[in-house]
Amino acid sequence: MSTSDRIKNNQLRSKIMSADDAASLIKSGDTVGMSGFTGSGYPKALPQALAGQIEAAHDAGEQFKIGLWTGASTGPELDGALAKADAIQYRLPYNSDPIEREKINRGEVDYFDLHLSHVAPMVWEGFFGNLDVAVIEVTGVKEDGSLIPATSIGNNKTWIDCADKVILEVNRWHDVRMEGMADIYYGTALPPNRVPIPMMHADDRIGQSTFRCDPHKVVGIIETDLPDKNAPFPPIDDMSRTIAGHLMEFLKWEVKKGRLTNKLLPLQSGVGNVANAVLDGLLDSPFHDLMAYTEVIQDGMMDLLDSGKMLAASSTAFGLSDTAAKRFRENLDFYREKIILRPQEISNHPEVIRRLGTISMNGMIEADIFGNINSTHVMASRIMNGIGGSGDFTRNAYLSCFVSPSIAKRGDISTIVPQVSHVDHITQDVMIIVTEQGLADLRGLPPKQRAETIIKNCAHPSYRPMLEDYYDRAKKNAFGLHSPALPSESLAWHQRFIESGSMRK
Ligand code: COA
Repeated sequence: MSTSDRIKNNQLRSKIMSADDAASLIKSGDTVGMSGFTGSGYPKALPQALAGQIEAAHDAGEQFKIGLWTGASTGPELDGALAKADAIQYRLPYNSDPIEREKINRGEVDYFDLHLSHVAPMVWEGFFGNLDVAVIEVTGVKEDGSLIPATSIGNNKTWIDCADKVILEVNRWHDVRMEGMADIYYGTALPPNRVPIPMMHADDRIGQSTFRCDPHKVVGIIETDLPDKNAPFPPIDDMSRTIAGHLMEFLKWEVKKGRLTNKLLPLQSGVGNVANAVLDGLLDSPFHDLMAYTEVIQDGMMDLLDSGKMLAASSTAFGLSDTAAKRFRENLDFYREKIILRPQEISNHPEVIRRLGTISMNGMIEADIFGNINSTHVMASRIMNGIGGSGDFTRNAYLSCFVSPSIAKRGDISTIVPQVSHVDHITQDVMIIVTEQGLADLRGLPPKQRAETIIKNCAHPSYRPMLEDYYDRAKKNAFGLHSPALPSESLAWHQRFIESGSMRK
């Protein structure tokens, strides 16, 4: 049996075992809480070993499935491997793995997509049943048995506290200098014992740098040396730059009107090309001394930190390209002072987001003319990824913004529609919608003015006349004229796409 200088606690060092041995401690029907948020900090060896064992069981004609809980999406060695092995019966709270997505949409896997800030409290409240095993990737184990977090925090604190058994993957790929970056807050409680989260600024540290862990619960430790894997970032395209440009002009206008200063307010940005383009746009802007209160640190935020434009960033995970991950590792001492990794119930905490007054910027599948947003479902019923943190931030932000190209699938889909086919963010929560066509500022606008503004400013010219025609007729024929709508037609655009492959008439 090997020993490791990353595992300083003698009692725990004796629990080192192979990934196969550790995987065999998980039984069919178990609920397993794994670390991982985007492609960072997820266990890599155990899920692959478990997938192999489950495939072997299936080949032998045995039933073997687990419930899988994580922070959010993970990497191919976790979600990908288990999905391929047909190993998952129940999944929460977020998935972006394409194989798993197909299984969910074929009705073979039960998927519960929920606000990321709600996961930990709901597990504590017992809504999802018992957590049998936690599998957590860490950077190291300290003498007292506490755990040095890796590159994502997610729900790890809750999994470690709630699970009957804990399996650790100690990954040497993570730099030991990660120690001190995390801020694990242990002050949360359930009603009626909740107290305010004592966070006044995005960069406040309110907790401790390690996870507590009862050594008696640890049943196995696997040593690995495997890199995090994030999807490669494509270069920022013209569409994203145009959308980002509209948003940038709007923020400058807000400063001119005195509603913001050049320091803006803590920024939350979803992942993706447009989000990165917005962050890139901030590099060459009058804004300075910026802060981020977000859930994922992506390349654009690293650039802002490097340039000195951004002072600090709070999040629960990294979502970096290989190049940015390399830069991060080379300059870890610099970043450790500027980046705070928190449990996702804190990085996404509604109370804190409302207090700090964040500016949220997220992608969408579609918006309707009244400003309701669908972030999750294609044509009403096919899940794309999940709501993630977009609801946590949108409802509580000082400024809630949604960004998207105005058309998808080479123009066969308009992302501005008469009625969204699924609602994630209601019109009352949505302030700004931006497409490459322009920006709709919906603050203070009643429904009819929202519709006119969204159609005029955001719809693609090839769909604008169709939307105008629909809305004109709705104003004449609707049952009520507060939010004029024609229910028999408002979802016909989606039905047309399902039947003909295009929303166009
Ligand atoms: N109908 C059907 N498909 C659509 C669509 C629509 N109205 N709008 C976009 N799409 C498709 C695109 O064609 C693309 O498909 P492809 O992967 O086959 O090329 C895919 O959805 C992604 O769209 P894209 O324009 O590249 O945007 P994105 O990468 O920013 O993703 C969401 C947009 C909505 C899917 C993504 O932002 C998301 O999952 N959001 C929910 C979670 C969230 O907001 N988290 C933020 C907190 S970090």
